[in-house]
Amino acid sequence: MLERLNQLEREAREALRSVAGGDDLRDWHRRYLGRKSALQDLLKGLGSLPREERPAAGQRVNAVKSGLEEAFAAREEELRRTRLEAGLRSEALDVTLPGRPARRGRLHVSTQVLRRICHVWAEMGFQVYRSRDVETDELNFQLLNFPPHHPARDMQDTFHTTREDVLLRTHTSAGQIHAMREHCPEPIRVVLPGMCYRYEQITVRSEIQFNQVEGLAVGKGIRMSDLKGTLTDFARRMFGPATRTRFRCSYFPFTEPSAEMDIECFLCGGDGCAICKRVGWLEILGCGMVHPTVLGNGGYDPAVYTGFAFGMGSERVAMLRHGIEDIRSFWANDLRFLEQF
Ligand code: PHE
Repeated sequence: MLERLNQLEREAREALRSVAGGDDLRDWHRRYLGRKSALQDLLKGLGSLPREERPAAGQRVNAVKSGLEEAFAAREEELRRTRLEAGLRSEALDVTLPGRPARRGRLHVSTQVLRRICHVWAEMGFQVYRSRDVETDELNFQLLNFPPHHPARDMQDTFHTTREDVLLRTHTSAGQIHAMREHCPEPIRVVLPGMCYRYEQITVRSEIQFNQVEGLAVGKGIRMSDLKGTLTDFARRMFGPATRTRFRCSYFPFTEPSAEMDIECFLCGGDGCAICKRVGWLEILGCGMVHPTVLGNGGYDPAVYTGFAFGMGSERVAMLRHGIEDIRSFWANDLRFLEQF
């Protein structure tokens, strides 16, 4: 029996050394220390030994058993530590390394300029009025005094949709009618920012989509001098207090009289340079007194009310402010361009 016990102990210890992980460890325990193990059998067999051999044999079996239990616990601990160390090694993190900076987003240069323009107008008492990008021919043209086939429609080549009479607005002026109908007969002072679309050749100077900021003031006793004064004030707030302006006669079907406003070139101060094409002046917006017919279409009695309107291309303003030479840069999604602003 002692022989058998010694052999069992050797075998168990050897097996324990080659045990590599959790499942093996459990198997080993069942096999050598479990209820159905050879050791248990030996314990049970003690009774059949001659009486005088029993105490010594019993002690020996128990010693082997507790020895194996100790070895088991030690091995278990050893394996746990190796696993932990391996884990620590593979997940090691050098906290002293410099971090990766988070890439910060920013507002598109167009949005920045659009907001700046609206902000300046807000300071002057103009509220932002939003109107839709998709319009009807009626609102974009007819109610603004462009009858069907009117030659002035050629100034604004149009994207039509598959629905008859539904189009992408060619200018924010379409929103004038919405704003007037919503507020009449109250006086209004609003700006209408938004994207406009024109079916045109894309060039350095013109894009098929661009933002405009429209302005509209309607009330009693508004005169052309109010238009000139207000727009000049805007130009000074936007481009600097010394900015000079000039108005040139122009034509729009929905304003009468109509004009275009130039500002003195802020780069050369009027001497003539590449930005202003040597004329010293930069064209920045179209404007005029709201046509009586348009006032009537908006719900105002043109015998009582008058108003002025203007519209500026905000990418054009951005190009002037930042010296951007190619309008196609705005929608080309080139980060090297966009990150400069
Ligand atoms: N809607 C005109 C354009 O897009 C600009 C404009 C607006 C002119 C308001 C006069 C009054 O060219």
